[in-house]
Amino acid sequence: MDRFRVVGGTRLRGEVSVVGAKNSALKLMAGALLAVGKTRLTSVPAILDVTIMAELLRRLGCVVDYDPTSGVVEIDVPDRIGHRADYELVRALRASICVLGPLVARCGEAQVAIPGGDAIGSRGLDLHISGLETLGASVHVTHGYLIAAAPNGLHGGEIRLDFPSVGATENVLMAAVLAKGVTRVTNAAREPEIVDIAHFLVKMGATIEGAGSSVIEVEGVSALTPVSHQVVPDRIAAGTWAFAAATTEGDVEVVGGVAGHMGAALDLLTEAGTDVVLTDRGFRVTGTGRRAAFDVATLPYPGFPTDLQPFALTYNAVAQGSAMVTENLFEARFRTVQELARLGADTRMDGHHVMLHGVRRLSGAPVEASDIRSGAALVIAGLVADGITTVSKAHHVDRGYAGFGEALRGLGADVTREPDEAPYI
Ligand code: UD1
Repeated sequence: MDRFRVVGGTRLRGEVSVVGAKNSALKLMAGALLAVGKTRLTSVPAILDVTIMAELLRRLGCVVDYDPTSGVVEIDVPDRIGHRADYELVRALRASICVLGPLVARCGEAQVAIPGGDAIGSRGLDLHISGLETLGASVHVTHGYLIAAAPNGLHGGEIRLDFPSVGATENVLMAAVLAKGVTRVTNAAREPEIVDIAHFLVKMGATIEGAGSSVIEVEGVSALTPVSHQVVPDRIAAGTWAFAAATTEGDVEVVGGVAGHMGAALDLLTEAGTDVVLTDRGFRVTGTGRRAAFDVATLPYPGFPTDLQPFALTYNAVAQGSAMVTENLFEARFRTVQELARLGADTRMDGHHVMLHGVRRLSGAPVEASDIRSGAALVIAGLVADGITTVSKAHHVDRGYAGFGEALRGLGADVTREPDEAPYI
């Protein structure tokens, strides 16, 4: 177990690169199961979650070659694949639930352990289940496994999602491409990662219209062929660097960042007094003195992403004025708040709202990461804290960011990694 050791007081300066999105790469890897032969993915991030997904695919019978240095994953899918994803791997990677749709579509059956994952709320699977049932699968839960069966294949159907769930949209999309007939998904998620998966599937021979809007139409085909595909740039990593620059009053060019995928995030930063300009390689964020606090509520895309909410907390903790941060997607995603309070932030939490009154500086202290984004947001908080902050459970951050500490050092930060102290019990 490692922790980050952060010496406060640096304004981040320089350039940082973002590669492909974790939340797309993992789903594209699962999508590879839909076609026999070799799929090649590029710009895949060098993170633990990709290693876990690669292992899961190997256990299903695929030959997977993952080179974290070049960011290339090659997945050779045999004609006959396994259909069971074990708890051992699924509990380490909640996103492995996205093999459910491809497995039912390819094998007519799937057994996927019910995931654990990040400690950020209950995250139901009801929409995944009802979507697959509409496509003709029977689904039940037994002994901790979700068992889906469609011995005679899937058929098209009308799926209306009660909530635009990213995971449920992906699962039904990846099942519907091989179903007989037309599927219409309404109230679908619109995230750029959904569009990326749709592009990938269309290249493979699928017929999909409307990805990126609330209504997606799929006309099933009988088989798909493997392709090469570059993963869409990671908008959450890009947003992390945008907030890091604004919060530390720094000046950072986010190379590879796509401003058009940032939804409300860059607009909010701009309105609050941060300069954001497009460059030919991405965008540049320049903090101009102590910025204004801003209210923000998380929403499905193109609203403000829940994955950037912890960074909005850190930003507002040291901004000028007061702000209300509202979390609408995950009920328990406010663990960052109590840690920020340890650093001297002035916070008050009420249900899914947090009120913050900005203070000039935080005060370094030991804190603990509870998930990927909270860990990264606490490291950034350490940069605007007097003295030394340690952020334990650094492994959470490794799941979402390749070389987070190195990237920060490249921007001038005094951030190192060290072994964590042994816990008292
Ligand atoms: C994905 C992202 C995650 C991001 C989230 C929202 C990956 C690997 N993870 O997660 O980083 O924070 O989108 O942008 O891509 N829900 C149900 N029933 C369901 C499905 C979801 O009630 O069947 C609820 C969840 O409990 C949650 C909300 O819907 O409250 C959002 O979930 P969803 O959009 O599905 O997020 P994920 O796909 O799990």
